[in-house]
Amino acid sequence: MVAPPAAGLARLRDTSNTRVDATLGALFDARPATEPRLEAAMRHGLLVGGKRLRPLLVYLSGRALGAGDDELDAPAAAIELIHAYSLIHDDLPAMDDDDLRRGQPTVHKAFDEATAILAGDALQALAFEVLASTGHPRLGGLVTTLASAAGRDGMVAGQALDLAAVGGHPNVEALAHMHAHKTGALIVAAVRLGGLIAVDEHDPRLQALIRYARAIGLAFQIHDDVLDVTGDTATLGKTSGADAARAKPTYPGLLGLEGAQHKAQTLIDEAIAALAPLGTNAQPLADLAHYMIERDY
Ligand code: IPE
Ligand code: IPE
Ligand code: MG
Ligand code: MG
Ligand code: MG
Repeated sequence: MVAPPAAGLARLRDTSNTRVDATLGALFDARPATEPRLEAAMRHGLLVGGKRLRPLLVYLSGRALGAGDDELDAPAAAIELIHAYSLIHDDLPAMDDDDLRRGQPTVHKAFDEATAILAGDALQALAFEVLASTGHPRLGGLVTTLASAAGRDGMVAGQALDLAAVGGHPNVEALAHMHAHKTGALIVAAVRLGGLIAVDEHDPRLQALIRYARAIGLAFQIHDDVLDVTGDTATLGKTSGADAARAKPTYPGLLGLEGAQHKAQTLIDEAIAALAPLGTNAQPLADLAHYMIERDY
C-alpha cells in the first residue's frame, strides 16, 4: 500500500533530521572545545529543537535531481548552521528582543549577549568550513550561493530592512521584498545547494526548483507572521503576539488574517506548478510546500 503523502513526508523528514543532526553533532564531538562557554552557547542555539526544514529542502532538491544523501550532508548542515546563527542574532535585544526560541530560553538569556553574538558569528564561520570540506567540483558555486544568500544580498539585508520598517507602513511590494530577503533567500539557497550537488547552474530543472523556492520562501514567512497572530506560545516555542508588540509590519497587518492566508495559499499553488519539469521526482517537494503553510509551529 502506498503511504499517504503526509505520512511519506513525515518519514522523509525523520530521515533528513537524523542525518543532519548526526552531521551537526559530529562537528562538536570531533574536536575539543577551545572555549567551553562559547561551545555550549553554539550547541544550545543549534542542536536544541528546530524543524530542520532547510536541510530537508537540500535533501529533497538534491535527490530530485539525482544526488546521493552522502553528498548532501554537508550542504544540509551548512544551511542549518547559517539559519541557527540568524535566529540567535534575530532574538538579541538590539533586534527582536525575544526570550524564548524553540521552547527554550534564547541564547542571550541562557548565556549573555556577548556570548550570543559570538556564538552566531562562530556558527556562520562553521557553515563555510563544513561546506568547503566537500571539495565538490562546483564548490565555488556552492560557496557563492551560501554567502550571497546569507549576507548583503540576502538574509542580513532582509533583517536590516525589517528593522528599518518597525513602526512603519510598507506597501505589499516592500513587504514582499523584505520577506524575500530575510527568509526567502536561505530557502532558495537550500534548493540551490541541493541542486548544484547534482547538476550545473544552467540546468532548467534547477531553475524550476529556484522558482519553487522563491514562492515557498515568501509563503513560509507569511505563515510565520500568521502564526504569530493565531498560534500560542507553548505550541510555537516562541512568544506569540511578538510582532504586534514590536510594531513589526506583517502580512496579516497589511492584508488581514484571511488575506494573508489566501496569499500564502496562492504562492503554494504557484510553487507546485513550478515543479512540473521535475515530474514525479518532485512529489516530496510538493508535499513539503503544503506543509509550509499547514504547520502549527
Ligand atoms: C523561523 O524559522 C524564522 C523564520 C525565518 C520565520 P523556522 O520556523 O524554520 O525555525 P526553526 O528552525 O524551526 O526553529
Ligand atoms: C526572522 O524573522 C528571519 C530571520 C531570522 C532571518 P522573524 O523575526 O519573524 O522570525 P521569528 O518569528 O523570530 O522566528
Ligand atoms: Mg526578526
Ligand atoms: Mg524574530
Ligand atoms: Mg516571526
